Amino acid sequence: MTILAIETSCDETAIALCKTSGGLRAPKIAVLSEVVASQIDVHREFGGVVPNLAKREHIANLPIVLEKTLKKISRDESGKPKGLDMIAVTVGPGLEPALWAGIEFAKKLGTQWNVPVVGANHLEGHLYSFLLAKKAEGPKLFPAVALIVSGGHTILISMNSLASRAVIGETLDDAAGECFDKVARMLELPYPGGVEIERLAKTGNPGAIAFPRPMIHAANFSFSFSGLKTSVLYYLKNNPDTKKADVAASFQASVIDVLVYKTLRGAEAIGAHSIFFSGGVAANRTLRSSLSRAARKAGMSTFVAPFRYNTDNAVMIALAAYIGSLRRKKLPLVARGTLGIS
Ligand code: KG4
Ligand code: ZN
Repeated sequence: MTILAIETSCDETAIALCKTSGGLRAPKIAVLSEVVASQIDVHREFGGVVPNLAKREHIANLPIVLEKTLKKISRDESGKPKGLDMIAVTVGPGLEPALWAGIEFAKKLGTQWNVPVVGANHLEGHLYSFLLAKKAEGPKLFPAVALIVSGGHTILISMNSLASRAVIGETLDDAAGECFDKVARMLELPYPGGVEIERLAKTGNPGAIAFPRPMIHAANFSFSFSGLKTSVLYYLKNNPDTKKADVAASFQASVIDVLVYKTLRGAEAIGAHSIFFSGGVAANRTLRSSLSRAARKAGMSTFVAPFRYNTDNAVMIALAAYIGSLRRKKLPLVARGTLGIS
C-alpha cells in the first residue's frame, strides 16, 4: 500500500510518503520521502505552543511541505503520486485547531485525487514506531510492554501482538515530557525544554540533589510527575545559588529512575520478551541507555525507533493508518483533542 500521511497535532507540520506491506505478524514500511517542518521558532517567544498560531502556521506550511515531500516522486496529471492508495491524517490527540488544519487539507487532497482519507491516532503512531527499529520483527517480540513518553502522555501498555493490547498504567497528572518542559522553564531554558535539560544535565551531577521518585514503589503502574516538578520549584527557591546543571541532572535522573523501574516491573509482571519505547522523551539518550541496560540485565530486548522518529513525524502516522487498516479499525475525520488509546 502506498500511503501519504499528514501530521499536524502540535507544532510540527509533517508529511510522509510510505510504502507498506505484510500482515499483522510482520508489517513492513519503507519511507519513500518525508519532510518535517518545525514551528518551534514561532512558539518559542511564548514559552509553549499557541494553538491558533499553530493552526495558522500549519495552513501556511502544508502546501509547501507537500510539494517538498513529492518533489522527486512521479505523479500523474492531477499531481497525485502514482500508485497512491490512501491518505492518512492525525485526528487526535492534540490541539484541535492544529488537527483541523491537517484534516481539512487531507480531505481536499482526497477529493482532488480521488483517494480515500483515513483518520489516524497519534498515540498509535508513537506506539507502532518501534517497527522502525532494527530487527523489530518476528513472533519472538511478544509479549511486550510499550512505554509511550511524550509531551502530553506517559502510558504503559502490555501487548500480546499488534492486534491485542491493554493499557496497564498512565500518568495521574503531568506527562513526563510536560514535566521536562516545566522544569526547563524554571531553569530559564528555552522551549522545548526536554532536549535543553538533557544538554545541561551532561555537565551536572545526577546524585547532587535527592529529588523524589514519585510512585516508584506504588503497587500499580501509574505515574505522577507534578510533585517532582513542585520539589524542583521549592529547591530552586531555597537554593538560589545552586548549580543549574546539577538540578537538571538530578531531576532527569529522578524521571528516568521512575520510568525505567516501573517499565521493568510491568514487563516482568507480564513475562515480556521485549520493551518498546517511544515519544519525544524517548529521544533522551540517558533514558535510552538506562532502559536498554536494565532490560538487558532482565533478559529482555528493547526496541526504539531511530532518533528522528521519536518526536512527532508523519511516518509514524502512516504506520498507525496501515496497522489500523489491518486491524479493520476506522477513525472518523473529526479532530478529537483528547483521543486516547485502549
Ligand atoms: O512526541 P512529541 O514530539 O510530541 C507529543 O506528542 O507530545 O514529544 C515532545 C516532548 C516534549 O515535552 C519535549 O520536551 C520532549 O518530548 N523531549 C525530550 C527530549 N526531546 C524531546 N525530553 C527529554 N529529553 C529529550 N532529549
Ligand atoms: Zn507526539
